[in-house]
Amino acid sequence: MKGDEIRSRFLKFMEGKGHLILPSASLVPQDDPSLLLIGAGMAPFKRYFTGQAKPPRHRIATSQKCVRTGDLENVGRTARHHTFFEMLGNFSFGDYFKSEAIPWAWEFLTEELGLPREKLWVSVYTDDDEAYEIWSKEIGVPAEHIVRLGKDTNFWEIGPGPCGPCSEIYIDLGPERGCGSATCGVGCDCDRYLEIWNLVFTQFDRDAEGNYTPLPKKNIDTGMGLERIASVLQGVPSNFDTDLLRPVIAAAENIAQVEYGRQTKTDVALKVIADHGRAIVYLIGDGVLPSNEGRGYVLRRLLRRAVRFGRLLGIAEPFLTRIAEAVVGVGRIGYPDLVEKEGYIKEVIAREEER
Ligand code: SER
Repeated sequence: MKGDEIRSRFLKFMEGKGHLILPSASLVPQDDPSLLLIGAGMAPFKRYFTGQAKPPRHRIATSQKCVRTGDLENVGRTARHHTFFEMLGNFSFGDYFKSEAIPWAWEFLTEELGLPREKLWVSVYTDDDEAYEIWSKEIGVPAEHIVRLGKDTNFWEIGPGPCGPCSEIYIDLGPERGCGSATCGVGCDCDRYLEIWNLVFTQFDRDAEGNYTPLPKKNIDTGMGLERIASVLQGVPSNFDTDLLRPVIAAAENIAQVEYGRQTKTDVALKVIADHGRAIVYLIGDGVLPSNEGRGYVLRRLLRRAVRFGRLLGIAEPFLTRIAEAVVGVGRIGYPDLVEKEGYIKEVIAREEER
């Protein structure tokens, strides 16, 4: 199943469950000085969770563009780290809670996408017996496939704002993808148990000092990385091998005249260029310009980093506008505005790359 189809199937499924489908918000946060860039599906909706603003509907679903730079050094070295990615999510603002969010996630994965139940595992927050019971009694997940995990993995927060305990769904990709350690299991850092969906039970508001205040109403915030679920459905070893990224790697292979899949060092460079290429295109498309501070600095740094990895592959001439064309080619169905902005995006890239 292609990335575009997964995105539209998800949104349609959630529409069927009463959600209003909204287009992705801009990567540039609106009226939120606490965030540099949007890094999660829930980020544009923080005020709906806290009750400071009224949502157009109490159920919303989106595929949200996200940029995260915390894992920059890992990008290209692992199967699944990105600076830019898309997050599929359904949100309840004081409407439904665990008893709906859990069965719907299960239904979407097993019935709509057809993932084998016996390969799925779930985690719940240490003392969340309510979620445990739903997984075990209503869904019928066997006890050996439900693990209780602590605050480091099963409590979701991104700076100050709405947050809460979460329950994650994993797929076992098989021992051949594992680290082989005797303690390998859900929560292990290796590639065997891949976290595919995070269901957050958003019940608290965290302030800048780290105090947690219960929110007036209970909410749901879920997030499933589109590239990741695409890698599972397409049966490929990494997000970079999905139809969402492989064409961009192909463009880089073409320019550098190297082949993907031969040498680790070359592959890392190709992946970094593909990843950063996507981030650059979407950031510029959302109005960010290269500069020495804030968002503009993130963009400048990613662009220069992509150029540096291009040099490592032996590319001596400016090349990023050609990468941008591949990015727009992949994104045109999900983000038709990219096509309109393509000329502008390439101009900004060309000017900065020249500098
Ligand atoms: N906010 C949570 C996450 O980003 C779930 O959407 O994982």
